[in-house]
Amino acid sequence: MKKLAAGNWKMNGRTAQLTEAMALAAAHPSPTVDVLLCPPATLLAAMAQAMVGTAVALGGQDCHAAEKGAHTGDIAAAMLVDAGASHVILGHSERRADHGESSADVAAKVRAAWAAGLTAIVCLGETEAQRDAGETLAVIGAQLAGSLPEGASAENTVIAYEPVWAIGTGRTPTPEQIAEVHAFLRQNAPDAGIRLLYGGSVNPGNAAAIFALPNVDGALVGGASLKAADFGQIITALE
Ligand code: G3P
Repeated sequence: MKKLAAGNWKMNGRTAQLTEAMALAAAHPSPTVDVLLCPPATLLAAMAQAMVGTAVALGGQDCHAAEKGAHTGDIAAAMLVDAGASHVILGHSERRADHGESSADVAAKVRAAWAAGLTAIVCLGETEAQRDAGETLAVIGAQLAGSLPEGASAENTVIAYEPVWAIGTGRTPTPEQIAEVHAFLRQNAPDAGIRLLYGGSVNPGNAAAIFALPNVDGALVGGASLKAADFGQIITALE
């Protein structure tokens, strides 16, 4: 299965940072892994313009469940496509926590993304309290069942395991903890061909060890995707 290196810029990046995307594309003209950047919506169209002729694909960070309409401040899946996206991140723990998104909300967004022709990157992950309580696989199982509508396949869906306590903290799970959740996801995902990404404090120093684990098909990278040099090393570790 082809690996995927996805960068989530979150609420970071101005026009000036398009140079980082351009440097990344120039340093990896024909990567043997899929490379995806998910900039803030304000940069999507400009980045799409800058990435023409490169191997870098683009994604949004969220979309609305409705096709269009009176939803001030929201973005429809078709608008992301119009701006140059082929993917969209959905159900990130920051959306679940900051915007109260439930797994049912996420599933509705996934359906909207598919209807617009986007590949959905569906994020799942336990909090530290849930892990400490021994609930990790139960939480992941419930999020998986609730967030993925019927029809999820390797063509339209990617799953990202992001333990909430590992995001932006510099802490990563042990290899055994990552391997356990990824094995669970492989067994329980509706299609065994769905790519399973790990996300949470991936950096150039730990990427190779994480990518060596079974059932890890790539990474969803936050902070380290903002710098072409760092993200480039993570891409190289996947190759
Ligand atoms: O979606 C990526 C993410 O939540 C991980 O962020 O900064 O820990 O790599 P970071």
